[in-house]
Parts: sequence; structure tokens; C-alpha cells
Amino acid sequence: MKSMDGYSPIVFNENDELLMLNQLLLPKEKQYIKAKTVEEVCKAIKDMVIRGAPLIGITAAFGLYLGIKDSQTKDEFLDRFESSVGCLSKTRPTAVNLFYALDRMKSVVEEKIDILPLYKLINKLRATAFTIWEEQKGQDERIGLFGAEFLKGKRRILTHCNTGSLATGGIGTALGIIKTMHRMGLLDIVYVDETRPYLQGARLTAFELKEEGIPFKIVTDNSCGMLARAKLMDAVIVGADRIARNGDTANKIGTYCLANMSRRHNITFVVAAPESTIDRSISSAGDIPIEERSQDEVLNCGGVRVAPDGSEALNFSFDITDSELIDAIITEKGVYRYPYGF
Ligand code: MRU
Repeated sequence: MKSMDGYSPIVFNENDELLMLNQLLLPKEKQYIKAKTVEEVCKAIKDMVIRGAPLIGITAAFGLYLGIKDSQTKDEFLDRFESSVGCLSKTRPTAVNLFYALDRMKSVVEEKIDILPLYKLINKLRATAFTIWEEQKGQDERIGLFGAEFLKGKRRILTHCNTGSLATGGIGTALGIIKTMHRMGLLDIVYVDETRPYLQGARLTAFELKEEGIPFKIVTDNSCGMLARAKLMDAVIVGADRIARNGDTANKIGTYCLANMSRRHNITFVVAAPESTIDRSISSAGDIPIEERSQDEVLNCGGVRVAPDGSEALNFSFDITDSELIDAIITEKGVYRYPYGF
């Protein structure tokens, strides 16, 4: 299960079982949860056993395959396909990669349903899920190289949330750039903010950086102003869950604060994401649905209630950063600069 680059966030085995590294337990426990049905996959995505925009998409593709693989007739296949897509689409609304992966699977069906016998169509969908994953790995590598080149000379980086292997199944997007910079000797230190309430930074990004031997310090989510004023960082690199045609970007809550602080202090602010995160059907951020999660995630910390009984919380999972605050958007195709026109 342990791959060369650490722990693979998902494994799809020859018995058609999806094993998911339970990100809710990391770094304390490395436990894989097994899914054999699309319903189990939907639950795992919703509960954030796996998370991160590209990995949500890849996992959904395998989930969709699990939903249809035992179909006996084409009619049954089409029924199951539709209900599986319905279940998966409702899991996490903001990350557009989920819908990208489902659309890729849909286009295989549209193209091949009348040409291929059912068993071949089912095999093709299994192969397509692996292809989406393989493509992501290559895209991450290219994002890493473009980013390292663009950020040359900026050796102290702050990053937010987790955008690494645990979020993409490859080396990661923003964290992929950081890993590439480290390999090229271009990095001094990474500041990792905690990323309440799920602590993707303190738990997951710190876990990956430690595995890779990359120097880092964890900072609280509200440290950015202090770090900027003390001139401790040269650039901020974040991922994205959805990018509109004009470059407006939805990403983990807190990203907008980082972008504003960066602009105020002349710190380079970069978004890294695969092209599949660009939603060309929307012109600006107004059309991006923002996921709101349970109040309990805020009222509790590490499983312990911290707020007084009767308190209410507001738990937006993402925020929007206006494109003019983003110095560059880096994809596998290269470096885009403001003004964006995707
Ligand atoms: O709620 P999450 O953990 O799925 O949110 C993840 C993020 O916001 C990441 O920054 C983003 O998905 C990019 S992942 C490469």
C-alpha cells in the first residue's frame, strides 16, 4: 500500500475495490477504508474521508464504475449510470473536477453505447477512471515545473489547506510546485497554515512535507498579517476548487484574506490548478456554488466541544478571490497572468 512517494490516497485493486486512505485520521493513523458500492464512495466523499478537488473527481469516476459494473442489460446500465451520477453529484458542490470527471465518463457512454457490447463498455469506463488519474499525475508534474520556474528567487512560501498528493493523487498542484522547488534547491521554508476547521494544513500538508523532508513551520490561520509585516514570506501559493472564465477563484475558506494581505504587502500570490478546474461555463465567481458544512465542525475542535452550549456557527467551506488579486494562475499548459480570459 505504501508507494515510493508515501501513502497513495486511493488504491483501486483487481477485485474492483476502492481503498481510500482515511484523511480524517491522518497523520495519527494510516487506515484505508474499503468501498465496493457507489453509495459507499458518495459517503466517503461527503464525509471528507478523501478530499481535494482533483482527487474528488478521480474517486467519483471509480465510484461511478462501481455503480454500473454489475449491470446485466443496457437498460439496467443506463438506469444505474443515471442514479450513480445523481448520488455522486450531490456530494461536494464547489469542486468542479467532480463534474469534469463525471462528464468524461458520460461522454464515453454517449460515444460507445451503440457500438460496444456491454461488458466492453463497462471495461472502458474502468479504464477511463484510471486514465483520468494518470492524466492528473502528468498535469501535476507540469504545474510543478512551470511554478518553480515562475517563482525562481522566491524561497519562502506560505501555502493554505492541502493541495498535495492527498488532494490530487499525483505530486499535487500548489504543493507540487513547492515539492518541485525543493527538489531543484529553490526553497528555504514553507509556512503551512492550520486551515480550520479540518486542519488540512496542520495535519495533511505537514504530513506530506515531513515525508518529503521539506523544511516547514505550521502557523495559525491568522498569522499571515504578522508574517507579511515581518517580511518572512516571498510568495503565497494556493490551489483552487473552481476558476471562472475571468479568473475569479473559489478555494478553501481563508484564501481571500491571504490574497488581500499579499497584495497589500507586495507578496506574489499564485493559484495552481489543472485546466479541469477551470469552469468555462461561468463568466465570473457569482455563479460558483459555495459549500456550507455542519456548524459542529466549527463549534468543536479535535472532537472536543469548545464553544458554549447554544452557540451557532457559520461554516462556509470556500471563499472567492477576485481575479485582480491573483498574480498568476498556473496550469499544466503554462503561466497565465491577469487579466485572465479562459
Ligand atoms: O475541502 P477540501 O479539503 O476538499 O478543500 C480543498 C481545497 O480547497 C484545496 O485547496 C483545493 O481543492 C485544491 S486541491 C489540489
